[in-house]
Formats: sequence, C-alpha cells, structure tokens
Amino acid sequence: MTITQIDKQALIDVANTVRQHAYVPYSNYRVGAAVQTKSGRVFTGVNVENASYPETMCAERVAIFKAVSEGEKDFEAISVVTDNGGSPCGGCRQVLAEFGLDTVVLIANGEGQLLKEMTVKDLLPEAFLPEHLLK
Ligand code: THU
Repeated sequence: MTITQIDKQALIDVANTVRQHAYVPYSNYRVGAAVQTKSGRVFTGVNVENASYPETMCAERVAIFKAVSEGEKDFEAISVVTDNGGSPCGGCRQVLAEFGLDTVVLIANGEGQLLKEMTVKDLLPEAFLPEHLLK
C-alpha cells in the first residue's frame, strides 16, 4: 500500500494535533509524530521530557515504540511536526532504520505544511542494520 497525498496530509494533521500533549516544560519545543503502518494503522507520539534531561524521549520513538508494542513493525510513512519544521534526530533515524530504509519521512511545520519528504535511507546513509548482527 503506498501513501497518497491525502494520507500524507492526514498523517501530518494528526501529528500536529497531538503536539498539544507534548510534555515539554524544559525546552517548550513541541514535537508530534504519527507513523502509518503498511496495514493502515496510525500510531502517534509526542516528546516527553524529564527533569533528568537525558531521560527525555523523542516523539518519533514514542510513536514507533507504541506501534511495535502493538505488534506492528512494517511502516509506510512517519510524519514529524514541529513549529519550525525540525528534522528527526540521529537516534530516531537509527530507530527508524531498524524497521526499514524505505519508510517515507514527512517533515512539516506548525501550520501543517509539508516542508520536506524523503526516505529513512536518505536521512541515514550507510546505516548500521539488523543484518549486520543477525545471520
Ligand atoms: N525532539 C524530538 O522529539 N524529536 C527529534 O527528532 C528531535 C528532538 C525533542 C526532544 C526534546 O524534548 C526537544 O525536542 C528538544 O530537543
């Protein structure tokens, strides 16, 4: 199943809506993410910060981990929404790569405008992958 333009905007809109739940007392930088599985389900995530700063979890990983914990690990696309169109961090790129280099990444701003579209492979060339460990 490939993602249509309508699906893309819907995936952006839901990520933008859930940003209201971001727990960001320290950075005040709200991130929302929404991952669409190949089976058509959507899982959302927001960043959850912590007084012990390194324990913060990014929105993308919350969305991915929610999906995996529900038995879904084949992803079509993920949207990432911030006020200013920020890009997924390196850690989130690595976690995305674990589940497929062809996942479409949609980066949008707080107006819900799609600013950039690429694949995980574009974001993390020469990724370290499961195949490097599993024989
Ligand atoms: N953040 C994300 O949620 N995703 C990213 O890919 C980049 C950074 C969050 C973590 C922290 O709560 C805030 O943005 C500022 O770094």
